[in-house]
Amino acid sequence: MPSPSTNPRQAPRLRRSPPVVAIIGATGAVGRELLGVLERREFPLAELRLYASQRSAGTVLPFRGNDITVAALNDSTFAGVDLALFSAGAKTARQYAPAAVRHGAVVIDNSSAFRMDPAVPLVVPEINPDEIARHSGIIANPNCAAIIALLPLWPLHRRNPIRRAIIATYQAASGAGATAMAELREATRAVLEGRAYPPRVLPHPYAFNLFSHDTPVDPATGYNDEETKVINEARKIFGAPELRIGVTCIRVPVLRAHAMALTIECEHPITADQARAFLSDAPGLRLVDDAERNRFPMPSEATGQDEVLVGRIRQDLSDPSGRSLALFVAGDQLLKGAALNAVQIAERLLP
Ligand code: A2P
Repeated sequence: MPSPSTNPRQAPRLRRSPPVVAIIGATGAVGRELLGVLERREFPLAELRLYASQRSAGTVLPFRGNDITVAALNDSTFAGVDLALFSAGAKTARQYAPAAVRHGAVVIDNSSAFRMDPAVPLVVPEINPDEIARHSGIIANPNCAAIIALLPLWPLHRRNPIRRAIIATYQAASGAGATAMAELREATRAVLEGRAYPPRVLPHPYAFNLFSHDTPVDPATGYNDEETKVINEARKIFGAPELRIGVTCIRVPVLRAHAMALTIECEHPITADQARAFLSDAPGLRLVDDAERNRFPMPSEATGQDEVLVGRIRQDLSDPSGRSLALFVAGDQLLKGAALNAVQIAERLLP
């Protein structure tokens, strides 16, 4: 099979506007948000087609006042499709994205399948929009924790390069999909009612608990897959292969917004006030940094918001050189962490 990422016939922009758009994984947590984001941002569309697995064929989803029936994904799905938004996991993306590209569609894939392919752009539009132009059919949407961590670090990195970052995440259920969100709700109800709830989707009890991210740990490094993704994707998106970065990813019982503690060491001294000034007018961010009222970024306030909230900005006292800061952020995993970022990329592909 030819590498879809090196298809020389693929034009950088969509071949038609308004485009025919397909959502692959439309019934999933991110897929449903894609529908909402396309509607809210009035994305120009000739037609929207929805696909999922055979299990969901026939499901009806509302869009712009109409009902669209979900079809089962198959090889002929992509005839006439100009833009395919994939959010159906890495296996489905590997299997079907090449077919979409062969049919002339541009693919924006939310899975990890193509992210580290050097020929595939990995894009956060506020950070590296120029990467979009070098695509050859597939553009990768980064890992949700990577997007939410990197968006507030970029305005600092641009002015005072980050040499080292230590990231600790507090990740929501939505990152593991709609079934994990349902499990959090059901497990919480069961615990409150005094019933046993054996975990089905996630490996450990989720209600009133937290645990190390549910991806396999690489015995060679001790890092799990999620942590490794954040490390590798940060280096690729920032174009900083030498960036020193350590990450600890934790799943917490929150429905759909990730929070993170970020500690960074910059090349030159930096103050909290300087950082606040750099972050206050940066696109995609909202400063929530009110020490007097002890009001800082929270998942409950980030939920449903396009902006990533950033605050608790302070000098890292463990570094007497004055080059280190600590921050706390929260961002909606399904929006900026996934669907919104994908649609923002798509908007830049419109002719
Ligand atoms: P389905 O609902 O039919 O299982 P989430 O990340 O929330 O779990 O959602 C995953 C999405 O990917 C769902 O829409 C799911 O459809 C879809 N999906 C999973 N496997 C396939 C597949 N083999 N072909 C098409 N869609 C798939």
